[in-house]
Amino acid sequence: MPAIPVQFFPAGPILIVWIVEIRTVARSGAMVPRMTQPIRRVAVLGAGVMGSGIAAHCANAGIPVVLLDIVPPKLSEAERQSKAARDGFATGALEKLRKARPAAFMHPRAAILIETGNFEDDLGKVAGCDLVVEAIVERLDVKQALFEQLERLIGPETVVASNTSGLRIADMLVGRGASFRERFMVTHFFNPPRYMKLLELVAGPETSTAAKQRVERFGREVLGKGIVWAKDTPNFIGNRIGLQSMMTAIHLMLERGLQPEDVDAITGVPMAHPKSATFRTADVVGLDTVGHVAANCYQTLTGDEDRASFAVPPYIAKMIEQGRLGDKARGGFYKKQGDAITTLDPKTGEYRPRAGDADIAKAMKGIGRVEDPRARVRQLVATAGPAGEFAWTVLSRSLAYAARRVPEITESGAGAIESIDNAMKWGYGWELGPFETWDALGFADTVARMQRDGIALPAWIDRMIAAKATSFYAAPERVWDPSAGEYVARRLDPREVTWEGLRKGDAPVLKNAGAEAWDLGDGVLGMTFKTKANSLDADVIKMLHDAVERAERDFRALVIWNHGEFFCVGANLFAVVMAAGQKQWDQLREMVRGYQYATQRMKYAQVPVVVAPFNMTLGGGLELCLGADAVQAAAETYAGLVEVGVGLIPGGAGTLNLLWRALEGVPEGADVDTYAFVTQVFKNIALAKVATSAEEAKASGYFRATDGVSFDRARQLWEAKQRAIGLAAAGYHPPIPRAHKLPGESGIATLQMMVNTLRAGGYASEHDVKIAMKLANVLCGGAGGAARPVTEDEILELEREAFLSLCGEPLSQARMQYMLQHQKPLRN
Ligand code: NAI
Repeated sequence: MPAIPVQFFPAGPILIVWIVEIRTVARSGAMVPRMTQPIRRVAVLGAGVMGSGIAAHCANAGIPVVLLDIVPPKLSEAERQSKAARDGFATGALEKLRKARPAAFMHPRAAILIETGNFEDDLGKVAGCDLVVEAIVERLDVKQALFEQLERLIGPETVVASNTSGLRIADMLVGRGASFRERFMVTHFFNPPRYMKLLELVAGPETSTAAKQRVERFGREVLGKGIVWAKDTPNFIGNRIGLQSMMTAIHLMLERGLQPEDVDAITGVPMAHPKSATFRTADVVGLDTVGHVAANCYQTLTGDEDRASFAVPPYIAKMIEQGRLGDKARGGFYKKQGDAITTLDPKTGEYRPRAGDADIAKAMKGIGRVEDPRARVRQLVATAGPAGEFAWTVLSRSLAYAARRVPEITESGAGAIESIDNAMKWGYGWELGPFETWDALGFADTVARMQRDGIALPAWIDRMIAAKATSFYAAPERVWDPSAGEYVARRLDPREVTWEGLRKGDAPVLKNAGAEAWDLGDGVLGMTFKTKANSLDADVIKMLHDAVERAERDFRALVIWNHGEFFCVGANLFAVVMAAGQKQWDQLREMVRGYQYATQRMKYAQVPVVVAPFNMTLGGGLELCLGADAVQAAAETYAGLVEVGVGLIPGGAGTLNLLWRALEGVPEGADVDTYAFVTQVFKNIALAKVATSAEEAKASGYFRATDGVSFDRARQLWEAKQRAIGLAAAGYHPPIPRAHKLPGESGIATLQMMVNTLRAGGYASEHDVKIAMKLANVLCGGAGGAARPVTEDEILELEREAFLSLCGEPLSQARMQYMLQHQKPLRN
């Protein structure tokens, strides 16, 4: 596959193609060809697991989709006359999508972008689509027949892509003409398409550069996927390398007399792989799918020196035969029986109570706690005894296998190493790709040990040794090019910048025990938490004040961004529990006031403040977003004010700001009954409603409709910075405080009725009622809220007093203590 000239910044080459074409066209006087135009409408053919998931994700990105499937084969004669019945498979798939868990849609509303139909009546609709993604059954003859039909129907600029996981492009294109071949490629999405970052793209020898660029641009920019270009070889990159590693562990277990529990303990987190490791992953994916991909490799890779590793062991073949397919069949390698989880014994083929080597379990648990994945794999391989030996054997075989696949499955040049690493990180959830793992273990030491073990290595590794290279990746931003035999610059997207890559200078501008603020360049100050799990504590609050102060003086904008898995799961409860336990009310009041006014300080800062939440953004984390001028959220952000779970209400100005946010569109002076707005906010807080995407957070009023959404989290920091610069450059002024008339006493009484109904129905405890009514009082502006406009300070006082009085409640204290001990809410 020829390399795309500038993979990382498609705007460059696209612009060049445009200019060239416009010049040509100007000379010829013809219209500008649309081949370089963006993909604006998509057809997905096949509404099964993948087709429907791909359609949903296109809709998530705002792209209209035509989703078609076969006419159900078993219709009666009467049903065959009914369009609704003929569309049954596709409409049924859309219904399933609406209920899918994890959710396929980022917001149920996205479903309106999907139009359903069937192949017999609606295939002509592909003519109006820029991209057709084929995701029907994995059968060559069936796909070929569909492409034959498509050739007659598609428009002159439509790109056709197959989602096949294993069929060869040359075979799929038998009988197709030159124009179709130029516009044909493979787009291999991973399941589920919304959540898996990897999108493998494979072009045929005749695929045009314009078609490749259009699809790459669409995948990366619109769908937010991580693009890896693969070659037209069985199972491409991710599944080839992933399966070899998984099957190696499965075979080796039998050889070494280990148990599935041991293998999962070793090949999960300690190996920098997902916790589900080997057998749990197989259960989740489905043994039939794993067996199918492995069998495909075994049958087609006749020249692969490691072909034997793809052979499915007889006991697994028997499990597939018996329908023990994993989670979807309620049992695979593991099976829940009553409260206990049992394991299938590979020797007897029967389920037995969980077992496994206690020493291995203990050692692996310890290694699993090491934060840095590089240190973790080093420690794993250095472990004495069967676990360390097992890990080394699996890793050495799989790392060497990956090296031997270059350039068979990847381009030969600068992108080879990163293609494999990225495919494994984005498609299999590995924290480190094979070459990063190898670097972590030490390049030369690993090579020497592999050689001692008689493991074959390709010639390009010998060249690395001869050149005295010490790693695959080298500073600054360089990587080994296997074909050139030297280090070359990595093809990094300048937008995928890390905090460390962005910050200027050797030291932070501000620093305390809980947070830091760095100069992020271009006049932007960046603040980041340093607390455990990014919790909010007194130091973070102080930094918030200081960072705003400093940004106003020396910068033009402030961005708040965090490292780690979660943006922020709320305030550090420990300090609240301690103060409440010792009845230090004045101290607690000051703590809450400090937090409230830090959020307010941010809101009224002279410079714009942009918060960049991702993943869990709960309680105080969301309160920060509510105080910001703008949010640049990762598409996968799970946000909510969940304080009732610990017996409290939001006390960092979150109650105020969520309500004020809801009232933002109410024209000043308008005689509007605010009760409907208040009820909405009341429900969100009292029911601790967590939005399950940035889009849902907008719909819930947690983010503004105009807030930014980063589909690819790798670009979020850069995008947040751009948003901050944009606000500053466009003449930023802080908002002017507003006051609102609120429902007052009558609102409180109506909310009381609502709560009583929930209590009577058994949906709320006495204590839930108490918390809810304190919340109702704040949101209604107290009993006198309707008499005159209520100011922000008045609401803040009500919020503070409600928070404090709840801190004094023994049942709230019990909730907080329970959360600290068990990391889950107590219902009392
Ligand atoms: P599926 O079985 O869920 O869906 C297949 C669809 O094809 C169904 O909607 C079915 O109605 C339709 N179909 C059945 N017979 C047909 C025929 N004769 N003509 C046209 N359509 C027909 O399969 P899934 O998993 O969605 O796979 C679809 C494609 O995606 C396959 O090529 C598969 O290899 C590939 N793939 C699957 C992945 C997965 O994890 N399931 C991952 C990546 C690729």
